[in-house]
Amino acid sequence: MADERLIVALDLHTFDDVKKLVGELGSSVNFYKVGMELFYSVGAGVVEWLKTQDKKIFLDLKLHDIPNTVAGGLCSLMNLGVDILNVHASGGFTMMKTAADSLRKEADKRGVECPKLIAITVLTSINDEEWADLGFTLKTANQVVRLAKLAHKAGLDGVVASPQEAHLIRDACGEKFLIATPGIRPAGVDVDDQSRIATPAAALLNGASHLVVGRPIRAAKNPREAAEKILAEMSTQP
Ligand code: C5P
Repeated sequence: MADERLIVALDLHTFDDVKKLVGELGSSVNFYKVGMELFYSVGAGVVEWLKTQDKKIFLDLKLHDIPNTVAGGLCSLMNLGVDILNVHASGGFTMMKTAADSLRKEADKRGVECPKLIAITVLTSINDEEWADLGFTLKTANQVVRLAKLAHKAGLDGVVASPQEAHLIRDACGEKFLIATPGIRPAGVDVDDQSRIATPAAALLNGASHLVVGRPIRAAKNPREAAEKILAEMSTQP
């Protein structure tokens, strides 16, 4: 059984590329993230196909709108039977609470399992300088914890955050809270456009429950070997 703490980001444009990568990774990876790049170009068929392969799916569409619109959008996405959905925490407490409550109510009504709902705190590509440019005065780490606490209070299941802030969130929101961390870079691998990064083992040690990994696996010469290396490092942190 693959370690489902690893979620591989399918930031691809075509169905063929998805089938190729998922085929190459085979039984080593069970959990995939479908983001806007893939969903907007290929559509819901890719989610349906992943389900036929018995894969779990984090549908990363980062909803951000008024409460009623986000709640309605999430209930529509629930039709796809994915495991995790997300919203931007900066949409505010009312938006998050309305979204979480509506999703649970709709799942009860349909008699289906409710997908986990998690919130984006601050994008991992944003560094302190860029953050200050946006006019925010709190340090990014403080803002991340503030948004995570708000998401927790609104009844969300977890957050997406940088591995560097995972321990602060774990302390503030408890053991059961999901913390999915992108910005994972094994030693010696390209940093790309990510700023607040950590190695796989360090992210887990810091309190991450799930690692979202894209380019270090997707862009590797041998993706399966790259995934297995990451999984081996993860296994040192049960
Ligand atoms: O290629 P890389 O490992 O950097 O991919 C990270 C993935 O996580 C991308 O799909 C990106 O959209 C997503 N993500 C992120 N930072 C966030 C939320 C999501 O990098 N805060």
